[in-house]
Amino acid sequence: MADKQTARRTTKEQAPAQTAWEPLIVAFLCNWCSYAGADLAGSSRMSYPPNVRVVRVPCSGRVNPLFIMSCFKKGFDGVLVAGCHPGDCHYVKGNYYARRRMPLAQELLAYMGVDPGRIRFDWVSAAESGRFVQVVQSLTEQVRALGPYAVNKARI
Ligand code: FES
Repeated sequence: MADKQTARRTTKEQAPAQTAWEPLIVAFLCNWCSYAGADLAGSSRMSYPPNVRVVRVPCSGRVNPLFIMSCFKKGFDGVLVAGCHPGDCHYVKGNYYARRRMPLAQELLAYMGVDPGRIRFDWVSAAESGRFVQVVQSLTEQVRALGPYAVNKARI
């Protein structure tokens, strides 16, 4: 009997503390502008929500909508795609391709049950560390308000 009580107590003590849910967001950042902007935010010791996992891509035009789909499939709650401002793309037209592709990706994902508010496409230049922080903060708040993304509810 005493062993049972000890075992129960031990299990309760070992149970992980309940923590509040925090959104997990993937940020695809173009190497030449947005990644440099995020880097500048870090080296300028600006603070932004730690909910973002950065994936450095050569250009925002490199982000295939399937990458975004895959993020949701793996259980992430939101996706940010950020690139150079129009006219500043290192590969001339990459961000224009991305600008056309992202609304289509949002539409496709909405059809599959993913709220379009979970996906953001934005421009952040290498000098815009403040803008990067602002974009991350606002997307994190938006995704937090939407709640956790439930993979099994969607059709992905
Ligand atoms: S190189 Fe930055 S968007 Fe193309």
